[in-house]
Amino acid sequence: MGVNDVIVYDTTLRDGEQTPGVSLNAAEKLEIAKQLKNLNVDVIEAGFPIASRGDFEAVKLIAAEVRGVGVSALARASKADIDRAYEALKGAEHPRIHVFIATSDIHLKHKLKMSREEALNRAVDMVAYARSKIGEVQFSAEDATRSDWDYLAKVYESVIEAGATIINIPDTVGYTTPGEFAQLINYLKTHVRNIDKAIMSVHCHNDLGMAVANSLTAAYHGVKQIEVTVNGLGERAGNASLEEVVMALNTRKDYYKRDVRVNTQQIYRTSKLVSTLTGISVQPNKAIVGANAFAHEAGIHQHGVLSERSTYEIMTPESIGLSHNNIVLGKHSGRHAFEAKLKELGYDLDADAINRAFERFKDLADKKKTILDQDIEAIVENKAISVPEIYQLEFVQISSGTNVTPTATVGIRREGNVMQAADCGDGPVDAVFKAIEKAVGQQVELQDYFLKSVTGGKDALGEVTVKIGKNGKTFLGHGLSIDVIEASARAFISAINRMMVELSYSNDSEEGVK
Ligand code: KIV
Ligand code: ZN
Repeated sequence: MGVNDVIVYDTTLRDGEQTPGVSLNAAEKLEIAKQLKNLNVDVIEAGFPIASRGDFEAVKLIAAEVRGVGVSALARASKADIDRAYEALKGAEHPRIHVFIATSDIHLKHKLKMSREEALNRAVDMVAYARSKIGEVQFSAEDATRSDWDYLAKVYESVIEAGATIINIPDTVGYTTPGEFAQLINYLKTHVRNIDKAIMSVHCHNDLGMAVANSLTAAYHGVKQIEVTVNGLGERAGNASLEEVVMALNTRKDYYKRDVRVNTQQIYRTSKLVSTLTGISVQPNKAIVGANAFAHEAGIHQHGVLSERSTYEIMTPESIGLSHNNIVLGKHSGRHAFEAKLKELGYDLDADAINRAFERFKDLADKKKTILDQDIEAIVENKAISVPEIYQLEFVQISSGTNVTPTATVGIRREGNVMQAADCGDGPVDAVFKAIEKAVGQQVELQDYFLKSVTGGKDALGEVTVKIGKNGKTFLGHGLSIDVIEASARAFISAINRMMVELSYSNDSEEGVK
């Protein structure tokens, strides 16, 4: 790794998963981790193993299966947390334990009920303990930016002495500003005497919308590791967004003079996958990956871009993996053409996954004349959602219209039996959901429903995401079809399937940490 290289530490699967309403199962986390590897991030923070059995299993799976990248696991400054993280990381090629404890007086007094001295001693003991197990130990002083600078410097100096190889400076509540953060970084560089023995890192939250600016400031001031999440997911307002930090470092290399090894052409794909699997859509005007990020509306801009792209475009859509070649396949396209298209779009699927995607492509091609790249992405990504199909949609029929009570009849298959049920509702979708609830004998709370069209045009695929609640938990489901009622039914059934699996599995040790 070169002196100017930035280490990109991705915490989508840990801090990103703390986004309200997000819950990924182990298979989905693995899918994202594999894509993060394609994106070529340097380290993946795979989870917080002591938080739940599900988190532990996910870290273990990623550690065993994703090679050629660092895999990190979070632990509070306690032996039990560190043991659990170590256990989960055993199969990893490049494991790292990330130990944290708060250092601000607010956190010490109200959360930890510890003195500064006690927290310092705990940090030192636990870093030494983690180092006795593993070669790479990262230490975070939670709420660093609201901590006393002198005390903070002492904590970092002591943990480096105890064996920390990376020291992370979290702006936990998104409070700092670029100018102030630069001062703190430079203060630590001059007041932590052994700073040259560890890698400096930052972790910025976005409460005041400054996470990316603060992270870039850190990069400018020589901080080696930047922690980010895809689409800026994370606690509350989220973390510094990977795509924004990376593209800013690349586009303004003249200013930052730093190198990133991320394969930027995988950015768009990664953003889409994360948004599909988490159910958190990307706002249209989001920098880099929003639907409008490369759209030029005003005539004067369009004219400028047509005569010379650089008039209004500081980076190309291709640089983040947005393809230009839009109209692709149709009804008569064969398997070869389909496979070639998957490759061109950057997918690396095994034979089984290609077969399943091809079947869905053929079904779609019967109904839709031109299949666009976005349709193929939707077909592949919809299948990336890993929910066992306990219940399957056999058929759905509705009757609806002005002055007619919407009614729906559904047939739901479970292990060879088809259960039928009918119901009416406030609209056709409501009627379908009620009929499904009747057929499967479950009552759930519908928390959210959104429908978006994958492409333009009358025959566009509709993608429905639903969130349902039961026993205080939320479950996500997706459905894809040209018929939005069918897409809605599929999404609702997939959420119920997820609920069935996760509720039967949830006598888990959910310790509710953090
Ligand atoms: O925001 C934060 O302080 C964290 C730490 C665990 C690094 O996420
Ligand atoms: Zn955080």
